[in-house]
Amino acid sequence: MFANFKVLYAIALALSFATSNAAAVPGFQKRENGAIKLDFNIERPDKLILNGNFTKRADDYNYALINEGSYYVAEILVGSNQQAVKVDVDTGSSDLWVVDTSSGISGTYGVYDHTTSSTFSRIASGFAVAYADQSHAEGDWVSDTIQLGGTGGPSLKNQEFGDATTSTINFGILGIGFPINEATADKYQNVPQSLVSQGYIHKNAYSLYLDSSDAAQGSVLFGGIDHAKYSGSLVSNPVVSQNDLDLNVNSVTTNGQTIDIGSNYVLDSGTTINYLDPTVLANLASALGAKYSSSGFYYFDSASDAKDISVNFDGVSVTIPASYTVGAFYDGDGNALTETGFLFLPQTNYHILGDVFLRNAYVVYDLDARTISLAQAKFTSDENITVIS
Ligand SMILES: *[C@@H]1O[C@H](CO)[C@@H](O)[C@H](O)[C@H]1NC(C)=O
Ligand SMILES: *[C@@H]1O[C@H](CO)[C@@H](O)[C@H](O)[C@H]1NC(C)=O
Repeated sequence: MFANFKVLYAIALALSFATSNAAAVPGFQKRENGAIKLDFNIERPDKLILNGNFTKRADDYNYALINEGSYYVAEILVGSNQQAVKVDVDTGSSDLWVVDTSSGISGTYGVYDHTTSSTFSRIASGFAVAYADQSHAEGDWVSDTIQLGGTGGPSLKNQEFGDATTSTINFGILGIGFPINEATADKYQNVPQSLVSQGYIHKNAYSLYLDSSDAAQGSVLFGGIDHAKYSGSLVSNPVVSQNDLDLNVNSVTTNGQTIDIGSNYVLDSGTTINYLDPTVLANLASALGAKYSSSGFYYFDSASDAKDISVNFDGVSVTIPASYTVGAFYDGDGNALTETGFLFLPQTNYHILGDVFLRNAYVVYDLDARTISLAQAKFTSDENITVIS
């Protein structure tokens, strides 16, 4: 859910989830004193659907790519009577909001009935999030008790959040980004800040681990770092944007060639693929021998032509294995456009390293220090957790 751009991709998939069965949502586990692990189910799109109307304009690369979202679905309990609702854990936004029962939305994700909670209180009207495709959610700013990860999870008293009485999305969002990005002029303590102020963790910092490409679960470890989950050293770089969790990317290396980048990319948990500057992407595709389709994407003649791609930051590189960079694209009617699409698309308006990249990285977002630390992820169930203090 990056700024106003990305949420539009979420919508169509959200609707399609209404009929699918979400797997049981895993809970939270308290680890070392001061570190809290919130597990989530990973829901990735079955198909990457490029909308029928995505033909490249000469001056622009704003594809209508839909059904693109990856969702990290965690459970929270809301209110005195612990109503279970599911929310998408999102590093690309900063508000928690849930779907209210009065929205008329029902389904596997759960809705919140504030009238049955004795700890509910209304703060103000005017909760509104609106997205580039005209999708939206509106309601009230409210507060209530929020328990993360289900029974036994940390319980946040008087947590402010959005109570969506109308929504075009059928589950809520748990935005964990910078408070400056909250969708209200009256900034408030969002969930990661409340975890600090209510004594559960020491710093507003958390580690994201998505596990391998076919893993059904990942986790966000609030207040801690799991040193078993990466190889090499964790290297910190400054966040380069005031509002977003951006890092400067120096270059990418593949097939013996290095392509300079030198610009900022958002490390966004809610985007599936990578969006690169069109010129950079053309150079990268050329280094790989990927071909350009007049429909506006690159593809390989054969999946075996794909190569590992290293993304280079100051002091650290993360390698995306070749197999993670290839996937099928479909048009809006469900017809295959290609079986071997290159999972990097050109985009002039925003640049994102999404799930395709993040699965291969262990990422520590330290919002207090305004740094992001990276290392190559190691796929293991081992744990070696230390607290960020
Ligand atoms: C495609 O985009 C053009 C220009 O924005 C628009 O006029 C047209 O209605 C769109 N077609 C479809 C099928 O959405
Ligand atoms: C756990 O990680 C810390 C920090 O990297 C390291 O010093 C320590 O040796 C590790 N412990 C084990 C048992 O691997």
